[in-house]
Amino acid sequence: MTILIVEDDTESRMLLTAMLTAEGYEVRAADGGELALESVAVRRPELILLDIRMPGIDGFEVCRRLREKVETRNIPIVFLSASRETAKAAEGLRLGAVDYVSKPFQREELLARVRTHLELGRLRTQLEQQVEERTAELRESELRFRTMANAAPVMIWASGEDKLCTFFNKGWLEFTGRTIDQELGAGWTKSVHPDDLTRCYETYSLAFDERRPFQMEYRLRRADGEYRWVLDSGVPLPASTHKFAGYIGSCIDITEIKQNHERTLAAQKLESLGLMAAGVAHDFGNLLGSIFSEADLALSEMPPNTPGRENLERIEGLARHATDIVHLLMDSAGSGVDSDALEPVDLSLLVEQMLRLFLGSLPKGVMIGSELAKDLPPIRGNAAQIGQVVMNLITNASEALGGQPGTIHVTTGRTHRGLGTAANDVGKPSAGDYIHLKVEDTGCGMSPEIRGRIFDQFFTTKSHGRGLGLAAVRGIVLSHGGSIQVASSPGVGTTFEILFPAASRAATA
Ligand SMILES: Nc1ncnc2c1ncn2[C@@H]1O[C@H](COP(=O)(O)OP(=O)(O)OP(=O)(O)O)[C@@H](O)[C@H]1O
Ligand SMILES: [Mg+2]
Repeated sequence: MTILIVEDDTESRMLLTAMLTAEGYEVRAADGGELALESVAVRRPELILLDIRMPGIDGFEVCRRLREKVETRNIPIVFLSASRETAKAAEGLRLGAVDYVSKPFQREELLARVRTHLELGRLRTQLEQQVEERTAELRESELRFRTMANAAPVMIWASGEDKLCTFFNKGWLEFTGRTIDQELGAGWTKSVHPDDLTRCYETYSLAFDERRPFQMEYRLRRADGEYRWVLDSGVPLPASTHKFAGYIGSCIDITEIKQNHERTLAAQKLESLGLMAAGVAHDFGNLLGSIFSEADLALSEMPPNTPGRENLERIEGLARHATDIVHLLMDSAGSGVDSDALEPVDLSLLVEQMLRLFLGSLPKGVMIGSELAKDLPPIRGNAAQIGQVVMNLITNASEALGGQPGTIHVTTGRTHRGLGTAANDVGKPSAGDYIHLKVEDTGCGMSPEIRGRIFDQFFTTKSHGRGLGLAAVRGIVLSHGGSIQVASSPGVGTTFEILFPAASRAATA
């Protein structure tokens, strides 16, 4: 323990030096302010006994200068004052001295004060060291948290006891494209979808007041302006200490998961509807079969011109029409191809026959053109079903013209698809040779919303539509291993392109 005595009076200086040395302290002495400052600069003492009144730099000035410097600011200073100078000594306390003793010194009193201030100084140094260590630890853990949060592939936020946000990680800022200053506090709510904001804030606030974890979904605006669904999970912080210090939370973008879920639900709904329709169609098919055979039997036993014969013939016609619908229903439910009915089908020939049927019934002003490839490899399939596909597409095209003049163009040909070909609207072509059927019209076209639903069973925009045509097309094309691509612009027209796998001639022979 080193004590520096600063005293211009030689007698007092020697007396103090002797007194403290006798107690085992290491003592350094200076006879004036300048020497004192130099001595402190060379080696820091643990305590300074400082005379107030000295020629040159006086005690107050020494005290002031020591307090100015970080290294010397905390050295305890005890002023030495003449007994009549107590008011002055008190002034010294304001300058930062820890105590003062009056001359002439009482040995015991002086030693007691020196001991106390040395001990206090020691404790203070120890405490400062501990605070410094804790601060460094805290700083390090804060840095570790920030590094971890910024490296995490999710969005992370933290808020204080007042519900205001105090931190957003790099993931969050990159997602919203905003600066940390814009997001801090309640700034982040600017990116929340206006329709979700109240619910979002209420969930957060309620959980916060009850100090419990929460989870919520809301739409958050991404940097490109698109609102994305996020799942936000927050927990009170820190769980281990008694003091509540706010919340920490993380968010992930769940837009795709949500969309997939909705798509799966819609597909499941459609599938069960399809199954039901197929079941009903099956039973009706059987009933219609009986109606046919009964009508046939009755007709065969009825001489011509028998009253009621015409009615029976009409019943037979209606039953035939009903059978068509039953087939459409079965096809739209994707009931598959009957393997017994598989045959090599020449698509160009089939289209040609269909077009011939249509030519007679086309509304005025509608032009129908075709470009049918000669010598196409056959499709291995069901001719009646493929005919159904062609007929539905041309009927729709003609209906899309809505009685206005326009053109329908039908093309057939062969194409090849390589590995990794993208999925079409219906089906995904694998690598191989295909026969394509293209039906283009200059009709009303479709909005993207309508386009997204045209293959659904019972979806129609027509007053007398059944909404089964394209569902049947879809079912038939898929059961033949094919795919469908649709391009459409409202007011311009629509193109359906269908790919059927080409069968090698050997396989179909
Ligand atoms: N070429 C096209 N141009 C414009 N819209 C079309 C075209 N083809 C189909 N659509 C739209 O798709 C819907 C569904 O067609 P789909 O053939 O399945 O049923 P529909 O024609 O309404 O009734 P139907 O079962 O009697 O054929 C149509 O109502 C129509 O809105
Ligand atoms: Mg149709």
